[in-house]
Amino acid sequence: MNEEQKLNQFQARIDADEKIEPRDWMPDGYRKTLIRQMSQHAHSEVIGMQPEGNWVLRAPSLRAKKILLAKIQDEGGHGLYLYSATETLGIDRTEMIEQLQQGNAKYSSVFNYPTLNWADIGAIGWLVDGAAIVNQTMLAKCSYGPYSRAMLRICKEEGFHQRQGYEIMGKMMTGTQAQREMAQDAMNRWWWPALMMFGPHDSESAHSQESMKWKIKVESNDKLRQRFVNRTVEQAHHIGLTVPDPLLSYNKETLNWSFGPINWDEFWSIVKGNGPCNEQRMSHHIKYHNEGAWVREAALAFEENLTKKQTVSI
Ligand code: 3HC
Repeated sequence: MNEEQKLNQFQARIDADEKIEPRDWMPDGYRKTLIRQMSQHAHSEVIGMQPEGNWVLRAPSLRAKKILLAKIQDEGGHGLYLYSATETLGIDRTEMIEQLQQGNAKYSSVFNYPTLNWADIGAIGWLVDGAAIVNQTMLAKCSYGPYSRAMLRICKEEGFHQRQGYEIMGKMMTGTQAQREMAQDAMNRWWWPALMMFGPHDSESAHSQESMKWKIKVESNDKLRQRFVNRTVEQAHHIGLTVPDPLLSYNKETLNWSFGPINWDEFWSIVKGNGPCNEQRMSHHIKYHNEGAWVREAALAFEENLTKKQTVSI
């Protein structure tokens, strides 16, 4: 078959909702945009450990500490899972991490905000992981097999992450005046960055059209953002939190909560590296990646040794 016939056959497979597997023929553009999105997803999971890690030693109880430790460990696992899924496309994780550390790959802008107090840990779990669930539940239907299957596993753990965050916020809202103010302040600071997690508006999105054609995305940025808003506004009201958006209003026709404009200048400024924590997140990642080199070298040496022994024994 010539290139055009291969392309037509590939698109017919996508349109028939078939899963594309690593050894299947795929257009270079499909491979490239999957490597872009999946590696950045993995980077986000790993960098996302930092804001929460900042509070492990200051958790308000042993139970809270255990839950936070479990969540952070999950995020690390999600990152490794996604690096492995991305490697099926022919790129090595060393290269992906170099791209991240050299500023040639992104991670979610939401992780460039500071965690100022314990309520932030609740807001991250409830809002950030809540947004991730909406996005990742959609990605579980993605046309690329390894990515779709990784999402099925990851979404199971995100449910726990979101619920523990909402529990923290609910508890604080039944606490002292100071605790209620702390929870509302965290809501005010994390609400809009959580909405930005879904990416630019569909009309401004560079990749959505192609990603929808190839069913990497089966629902658009704006549609997922609206689903998150509809779900989360009700949860906020249920525990007495105010959504920091004076234009928020319920539309009885569309059954949607319509919301005010997102500050895209803030979004792009942070994506371009000017957020409150961009520098710290990257220097932290580089420092501990380098300090952990001995672990990777030991694991590789062990693997080589094992392979040598197995070849000799055969
Ligand atoms: N932060 C940083 N960059 C973002 C962004 C965000 N919130 N949203 C979009 N961008 C970037 C895109 O990466 C793209 O840049 P690139 O060409 O250099 O990759 C550019 O803005 C244009 O955006 P598009 O909408 O055209 O890009 P996509 O079609 O890739 O859609 C996306 C963006 C919805 C984030 C999509 O990439 C996606 O679904 N990614 C997978 C999910 C993910 O990465 N989530 C991040 C959080 S992970 C998490 O929260 C873990 C949880 O356990 C805490």
